[in-house]
Amino acid sequence: MSGSSDPGVAEESSTAPADSVSRETEGSRETDVSRETWNAQDVDTPIGAEAARAVRLMQAAVQGQLPRPSRQRVFTIANQKGGVGKTTTAVNIAAALALQGLRVLVIDLDPQGNASTALGIEHRPGTPSSYEVLIGEIGVESALQQSPHNERLYCIPATIDLAGAEIELVSMVAREGRLRTALAELKHHDFDYVFIDCPPSLGLLTINALVAAPEVLIPIQCEYYALEGVGQLLRNIEMVKAHLNPELDVSTVVLTMHDGRTKLADQVANDVREHFGNKVLRTVIPRSVKVSEAPGYGMTIISYDPGSRGAMSYLDASRELALRGGTAQDEGGRDR
Ligand SMILES: Nc1ncnc2c1ncn2[C@@H]1O[C@H](COP(=O)(O)OP(=O)(O)OP(=O)(O)O)[C@@H](O)[C@H]1O
Ligand SMILES: [Mg+2]
Repeated sequence: MSGSSDPGVAEESSTAPADSVSRETEGSRETDVSRETWNAQDVDTPIGAEAARAVRLMQAAVQGQLPRPSRQRVFTIANQKGGVGKTTTAVNIAAALALQGLRVLVIDLDPQGNASTALGIEHRPGTPSSYEVLIGEIGVESALQQSPHNERLYCIPATIDLAGAEIELVSMVAREGRLRTALAELKHHDFDYVFIDCPPSLGLLTINALVAAPEVLIPIQCEYYALEGVGQLLRNIEMVKAHLNPELDVSTVVLTMHDGRTKLADQVANDVREHFGNKVLRTVIPRSVKVSEAPGYGMTIISYDPGSRGAMSYLDASRELALRGGTAQDEGGRDR
């Protein structure tokens, strides 16, 4: 895990001023106070507030009210900058959608295997993985694993074998389109959402992911140099779009690790909104120790601490993402 971040700062206390960060008003410094805040105000103690949030999250799970998309939505989660929250965003949005009744697949395309770890998925050497799928040795079906925490959440893990793939792919036929070819098989599966977690590079693994997915989600950390390298990423996306995948589009930008105590975080958020406009989710993910602890237990924040601000923010982000996309109601497509 490349750690340019320092998760140990803003703690999860409901008494901290940072409680007001998880959602922002467009173009405004004033934060549109997160839905979590009403809890903190309505109950007397931090524990009470957390319990109230957990209850709300469980209600969302029971109601499972998110609409299915009109067709399967496949996202590549990319940013060649390391440690910006790609994996954290992939697994937590995936888990939040699964909690709300949707069928979700995470494809771990990073040899670090962080998404597999965070989802509690076996990925020891020798485990059928994205590597064998990519080089065409096995089909998607053989590498699918179900999450131990949610029956609707699946993962194709990454093992260390994937580290050699960048080099092996170079000499392969149709090297940029191999993942796309492999994922054609997913038509036969009933997944509503597929998230491909990329490594921090713009090599052939990321290119394969960009060719395989119509939508790109870019997580941007609310820190100095946030937009550094994003120009290069956008140029690569344009090249892939021009030559290999005309459908490709940056549909979503997520602001991550926002520290409500710093002005810098808001400045960065504003810059990113200026640059990407309404592609940026209104929900901002706060920096939170619990979010960084969860993978150590093989869990997403949704399972690890459903009452936390981190879980609430990813739940909000998942709802925004789902409600922005084409839904079954819009186009009369798919039934549950
Ligand atoms: N909201 C958050 N609050 C606190 N820590 C976070 C948060 N989001 C991510 N982190 C931590 O920051 C580090 C980097 O996050 P993550 O692994 O998701 O980034 P990444 O972009 O996938 O990294 P890489 O480029 O290495 O794949 C991890 O230790 C993660 O636990
Ligand atoms: Mg990662």
